[in-house]
Amino acid sequence: MEEEALPDDLVMDHTAARHKRSRTSDSGSSTSAESIHSTRTLNSEDFEFVQENGREYGNHTYFMPCDQLEQDRLTIQHQVFVHALKGKLTTTPISPLQCRILDLGTGPGNWAVAMARQFPYAEVVGLDMAVWDLETTEENGGSPQNVSWEIDDLDVWGEDPHLSELTFNMEHFDPYRDPITPRDTLESPSKSRQPRTPGEGDCSFDPLVLDPGPQVGWHFSEPFDLIHMRGMKGAFVHWEEVYAEIYKSLSPGGWVEVADFELMLPEMPNSQLPPGDAAGNLSQTQPDNLPLPTIRKLYFAGMQAAWKGGRHLGTSYMHATYLEDAGFKDIRTTYVNVPVGTWPEDREQKKIGKMFLVVLLESIETHLLRLLTQFGDADRLWSAEEVREQVEQGKREIFDWSEGVGSADRKEGWCASFKWIIGRKSKNAE
Ligand SMILES: C[S@@+](CC[C@H](N)C(=O)[O-])C[C@H]1O[C@@H](n2cnc3c(N)ncnc32)[C@H](O)[C@@H]1O
Repeated sequence: MEEEALPDDLVMDHTAARHKRSRTSDSGSSTSAESIHSTRTLNSEDFEFVQENGREYGNHTYFMPCDQLEQDRLTIQHQVFVHALKGKLTTTPISPLQCRILDLGTGPGNWAVAMARQFPYAEVVGLDMAVWDLETTEENGGSPQNVSWEIDDLDVWGEDPHLSELTFNMEHFDPYRDPITPRDTLESPSKSRQPRTPGEGDCSFDPLVLDPGPQVGWHFSEPFDLIHMRGMKGAFVHWEEVYAEIYKSLSPGGWVEVADFELMLPEMPNSQLPPGDAAGNLSQTQPDNLPLPTIRKLYFAGMQAAWKGGRHLGTSYMHATYLEDAGFKDIRTTYVNVPVGTWPEDREQKKIGKMFLVVLLESIETHLLRLLTQFGDADRLWSAEEVREQVEQGKREIFDWSEGVGSADRKEGWCASFKWIIGRKSKNAE
């Protein structure tokens, strides 16, 4: 079969440049990060990138690369998030006057820089465990003085995924019909797990040592008024702990905001659905009868790989109960559907749909390459070549669907569900 190439304006430049500038860490750091990882220095030159299958990663654990190609994808994705909120950067009602803002997992820092510009009296800290080219982000529109950068790995609870606990039972969820998966206790195992001792492997308490060392957890020198996370699916195992630390790190009345998106795979019109069961469950054994069969296959494989790696890929980490359990009040969720492709009639929607199409085409390899080569799907490991071959096939499917289906007066296409959840720490909290 002859392969159809994607149009040039939908292809990002794969000649990934090296990072131009690294994240600096001055002594005025707002985290006492040394108390988190006492043996680690936080100078960016000490960080080594991991080269793997032609991509560059910040370490051996996090599944997404941090190279120039990913930086470009995240920068366009940032624009999609902003367009989806009609130009707004946050759904929280924070005061534009003096406030301290933390962007946790800031990546190339687009949101942090935009917030710093929009709120010139705010103090914005962008924190990430990987080193990105922040110079480019800052230069793009002028470097704000009120943003600073820190390197830290905030996953202080260890990496043991307890594979036996994570018996991935894929029958429990139906990604075709239920894009917002509910919170699942398997995804975030109980709190009984021993935290990692800074600088060591797993914790072993020595009663003869009077000073047991710094307490595990996050230790910011000053609290924040807003802690923001975006695109952090698959970043942590213990989300209860993450939300508890966020709560602890906020000032009374402070806000948490978590943003992410989930794909909603298009379905056939009813008459074309393959014979399913009475409940309308789609059979995983007949993906070829459904639109985007390769994408479905990759989606399932990626979910399985993430389960095997111990870090679930869905957006259930944004479930309101996590915020409630941590003590947050005034919890509110905002959903926006973002079109995939140029199928909408409306000009604005068409524009955002095109931007998101570019993001999505690049997202598949970014999300799956390490997961499938390191953990594999339920049955086996994938080779990098196989991932890339399937990704190319999947991209063509997405592109074929990007103009939608149906007649000119009733076009239908598919969307992603963008979601923001916010919660407030009580004003009377300690
Ligand atoms: C998908 S990127 C999103 C970046 C950014 N928030 C955005 O929306 O453009 C996720 C980021 O989280 C960072 N990250 C993942 N786990 C982390 C951890 N344990 N501590 C700090 N940063 C982490 C990664 O290095 C990466 O830059």
